[in-house]
Amino acid sequence: VSSSEWVRAFAPGSIGNVAVGFDMLGLAIRGAGDHVEARRTENSGLTISSVKAPDGGAHADLSADPDKNTASIAAASLWSAEDATGGIELVVEKGVPLFSGMGSSAASAVAAVVAVNELLEKPLPMLDLLPHALAGEAFASGGMHADNVAPSLLGGLVYCPPLLLPQVLELPTPIGLSSVLVHPELRVSTAESRGTLADHVHVDRWLEQQAAMGGFIAACYRNDTALLASCLKDLIIEPQRASAVTSFAEVKAAAIDAGALGCSLSGSGPSVFALCPDYNAAAVATAMQSVFNSQGIDNQVWTSPLDCSGAVVESETL
Ligand code: HSE
Repeated sequence: VSSSEWVRAFAPGSIGNVAVGFDMLGLAIRGAGDHVEARRTENSGLTISSVKAPDGGAHADLSADPDKNTASIAAASLWSAEDATGGIELVVEKGVPLFSGMGSSAASAVAAVVAVNELLEKPLPMLDLLPHALAGEAFASGGMHADNVAPSLLGGLVYCPPLLLPQVLELPTPIGLSSVLVHPELRVSTAESRGTLADHVHVDRWLEQQAAMGGFIAACYRNDTALLASCLKDLIIEPQRASAVTSFAEVKAAAIDAGALGCSLSGSGPSVFALCPDYNAAAVATAMQSVFNSQGIDNQVWTSPLDCSGAVVESETL
């Protein structure tokens, strides 16, 4: 890419934890994502010329201060690790709602590193961008977890326990399943939510959750929907967070009644997701939305295949 040409990248939102794998399992979604445009500048240092809301206006809640935005923090991490000369200008276009549990901060960080990578003389393989995107995500959410960054970068379903980072495993996705994600107009701060989690877990719960995690991964490799359904649960974190989402228990019950294999919070919420057979997805979406509607809570839904794409460079010139 020659100097001053813009590169534009897209990164999707994602479902954190996927119920069964707190901080270690993430799933990309389709239709909601962030764009970042990047170009080289002669002056060294990194600037953000604008952070745009989905309506194209300046974003009311996000800072264009490069020390306080996940996109620029991630981009700066990559730029300095590669000893690149000169500076970078970024434009961030938010598509993923903030405080939604849909991996908003991760999508900006991932789109930024994917765009800036294209500006390097020798772009890195996607997987090598993960630690830099994580640096941005850690600023926003207060922890080193990759369950939004990894699926946003790579697409699909990713197993990414902190213990193994920067290694992550892209899991095969069972055939014929969709995710349904409903975002109610409520706000939950992931950083604050993490701060209130209990420090200790009863050994019985820990054993059950471990069994579910192992079973879920085996179900993915065996394409075993029944096993997946029996393992798609969160016995430890969901009970601590459910009260932050109005009518969560009713939404979950409605999803299961409509044919979902399981239903839980997406990340720290307030979004709620379900996995279901493709043919049930419309009914599951309607059932979940109707509970929020009955409470007068505006909401939006995204239905995605499990194997949807991760981040991409969309163009090298504007
Ligand atoms: N896994 C983290 C959490 C981030 O649940 O706090 C989720 O997006």
